Amino acid sequence: MSAANWWAERSDLDGRVAVLTGGAGGLGEMMTLDLQANGCKVAVVDRDTEAIDTLTAELTRRGADFIVHVGDAREPEVLDTLFAAVTERWARLDILVNVVGGTFKAPFEGSTPKAWDTLLRTNLMHVLHATSRSIPAIKAGGRGGSIINITTIEGYRGAPNFAVYSAAKAAVAQFSRSLSLELAADGIRVNCVAPDLAPTPGMKKISAGVENSMNYPLGQQVAIPMGRAGTMTDISDVVVFLASGLSKYITGSTLHPDGGTFTSSGWFNWPGSGYDNTLPMDVMHYLEQRDA
Ligand SMILES: NC(=O)c1ccc[n+]([C@@H]2O[C@H](COP(=O)([O-])OP(=O)(O)OC[C@H]3O[C@@H](n4cnc5c(N)ncnc54)[C@H](O)[C@@H]3O)[C@@H](O)[C@H]2O)c1
Repeated sequence: MSAANWWAERSDLDGRVAVLTGGAGGLGEMMTLDLQANGCKVAVVDRDTEAIDTLTAELTRRGADFIVHVGDAREPEVLDTLFAAVTERWARLDILVNVVGGTFKAPFEGSTPKAWDTLLRTNLMHVLHATSRSIPAIKAGGRGGSIINITTIEGYRGAPNFAVYSAAKAAVAQFSRSLSLELAADGIRVNCVAPDLAPTPGMKKISAGVENSMNYPLGQQVAIPMGRAGTMTDISDVVVFLASGLSKYITGSTLHPDGGTFTSSGWFNWPGSGYDNTLPMDVMHYLEQRDA
């Protein structure tokens, strides 16, 4: 058997139907294109009209079978319309990828209930709404399926100035674990993918005007064991894996495509002196002298 045949048979993605929220831009676009490249029919809702136009052009160029809707995935009616269109067109659903999410940097103290509500709607409530609509549609096929929630490293460690985002993503992780048990007997798997730094337009908006050493190669070498930021495909490869038959016995888990940052939390790879969980001595001496 050729490698391509092995992959096609074991991944078992050809002909499957996938819904992606936020699937036109940022990390979502790559996930949509990669699932389509593996034979999935894709249905996307995204609020970015320009991103939807670009995605539509690319999917059309590929001769793909697809649905795109412009809308806010936090609105239940928008999701109702999308899932109804999927049922009408294909009468099946196999995969749901909840990509929509986002945040801004601000201390919790002084933040407003309106801001908390926005973060919870974007990062938690939208996941509940989309997932609840997907379950009957996946169950109806009797073939099982895969629900994939995009969380973040910040849902698995403390994230100062991102407390509500971190709490919402941690809630998604716990929701996914619990739901995976409720749905296991139906062969519906529920997993999370937790990136760290993977530059996208959304990330740039969050960090606009904020000096962050992680945006520099040296900062990445220190903070990311693999020494570089993530790419779109670093993340979407994991989504394709979790959508595919290759992960058919994995549920209730989180995969961390982050170059090792979750594992290394607190340990830094300092140039010249190697791993330390505090400042290297020469930097410490430099700072002491500077501040003396
Ligand atoms: N990029 C990273 O480094 C990173 C790191 C950790 C976690 N994440 C998570 O990955 C996911 C995607 O991140 P990204 O950086 O690609 O984000 P992004 O801001 O680029 O958004 C991805 C897509 O979602 C769409 N979108 C956003 N809110 C929407 C809404 N309410 N309704 C419809 N569409 C909406 C955007 O238009 C965009 O096309 C998020 O859940 C984010 O929390 C990203």
